[in-house]
Amino acid sequence: MVSKRSGLVLAIGFNLFIALSEASLLARQRSQQELDSKYNWWQHEVFYQIYPRSFMDSNGDGIGDLKGVTSKLQHFVETGITAVWLSPIFQSPMKDFGYDISDYSKIQPEYGTFEDFDELIANATAAGIKVILDFVPNHSSDEHEWFIKSAARESGYEDFYVWEDGKVLENGTRVPPNNWRSVFTGSAWEWHEGRQQYYLRQFTAGQPDLNYRNPAVLQAMDEVMIYWLNKGVAGFRIDAINYVYENTQLLDEPLSETTDDPNSYDYLDHIYTKNLPEVNELLQHWRVMLDDYSKNNDGPQRIMMTEGYADVNTVMNYYEDENGTQGVQFPFNFDFISSLNNNSDARDFVYIIERWLIYMPHGHAPNWVMGNHDNPRVASRYGVQTVDSMNMLLMTLPGIAITYYGEELGMVDYRDISFADTVDQPACDVGIANYKWMSRDPERTPMQWNNDTNAGFSTASKTWVPVNPNYLQLNAEAQKQAPRSHLKVYQQLIKLRQLEVLQNGAFIAQAYNREVELKGKRSILTIINVSNSQQQIDVSDFAESSKHLVLLVVGVDSQYKVGQRLKPSEIVLAPYEGLVTRLSLREK
Ligand code: NOJ
Repeated sequence: MVSKRSGLVLAIGFNLFIALSEASLLARQRSQQELDSKYNWWQHEVFYQIYPRSFMDSNGDGIGDLKGVTSKLQHFVETGITAVWLSPIFQSPMKDFGYDISDYSKIQPEYGTFEDFDELIANATAAGIKVILDFVPNHSSDEHEWFIKSAARESGYEDFYVWEDGKVLENGTRVPPNNWRSVFTGSAWEWHEGRQQYYLRQFTAGQPDLNYRNPAVLQAMDEVMIYWLNKGVAGFRIDAINYVYENTQLLDEPLSETTDDPNSYDYLDHIYTKNLPEVNELLQHWRVMLDDYSKNNDGPQRIMMTEGYADVNTVMNYYEDENGTQGVQFPFNFDFISSLNNNSDARDFVYIIERWLIYMPHGHAPNWVMGNHDNPRVASRYGVQTVDSMNMLLMTLPGIAITYYGEELGMVDYRDISFADTVDQPACDVGIANYKWMSRDPERTPMQWNNDTNAGFSTASKTWVPVNPNYLQLNAEAQKQAPRSHLKVYQQLIKLRQLEVLQNGAFIAQAYNREVELKGKRSILTIINVSNSQQQIDVSDFAESSKHLVLLVVGVDSQYKVGQRLKPSEIVLAPYEGLVTRLSLREK
């Protein structure tokens, strides 16, 4: 199928080209100091997200734990991963599986002890793996001592949270102070019988929002960060950063007009509860604190990466604001989750990839998040056939790659979990008729290590969420044994990232059949067919005087082999196939 657009003939279904050339190193050349590994160790890193509850259970209670993670460090060593970030491990009643923290300085007993944590850090450090922890500043648990004291109006804690009287209607009914909505549906205000006031909770009722307008709160949270830095972590993933401040006049938010459901979070345009400019000042404050810490202590630069689903301008300000004041090392780029999907064509990919690079302030590292514990997995979002090509894309884009556990194997969501087995609170809240698509349990199923009971994750009779029954075929052990596997492709891709050209080369992304000016002696070219039909393409323009493309990485089901040479003018790609190639000037 072809169509005319702007005078160009485009193949529909389109193929995506990513090319990096050594010839134009200038554009992205970095100074020696910038390349200093102590300071910029993270700029080309692959960060692997561990969801501790689901990674490895060492004591047979059906729940993953720290000792379990330590026991699996070899998986990272073999795969080539040198940095991991852990979803929360702190004391919690687990209403939001650790994102509701009842003591920021304690470890949840089912995850282990401080000795287990120290052991993890020591063994990870010895294996060359840095550990990043999740930091959840927006809210604590309603079981946190601060909240209990605040609810009791104990001196010093009265304003630790956002409390309001609400309004009394003419008929005497008390209602919340305004129309603000919880991300997980319904009012964002929860009545507290004890204090006889509403408290703000933008997530579940068990997650009251801390009040950052109170300097004592900021100080308490600074101390939490320092506490964990002293325990040897390399930095923090910062949760829900864009929710931290709200408008102090409590103004009603305007209707978004995108849905008729008044309970839905999308019902309102969140101009008073999200992305307030104060967020930048907070991040800058923590940046100074972490930089000082790094200067005054041995070890790598301590870093921050933020979670904030927001428009591109807002997110870019987290790198640095308009005045050049530094914020976090990188705000997560969720474009592969939020802006692209299995209907996107090559132009969409190119456009969205370039958008990040164009908007990003000069001198920063781009990053690409392929999946996480809040969204369907890659194989379920884009299709099982795309697993290798999406990893090729992730790994050959410039900058930082972020992988969710199990994505190196192509794990798939287990959507068929019964309502009785569902534990994700927002899904339980919407009831049996609607839980299935709301639930985040399907992407949190245990890591599939082998074909033993519970995929080798646990010896328990029941795991905290069911194991995906496809583990019998899809597991790490089987993929290690197989001559070709997603895991092996992933390993090859990580190795490839050591190439100077992939770290510092100039980058260009093109949809097929657009004119490309890319000159260079030795370039890496990633070619991805994002369509569901076979495509024959000619990349001789792209390959310039190269006689051949040498295949560096091919997918599991590819007709090609690594090392094989292809003529740039005659490349046939199966549906969703990806190839990572090197341009070669030699005749053979
Ligand atoms: C974002 C976390 O990723 C998600 O899992 C959690 O439910 C919310 N923040 C609330 O903490």
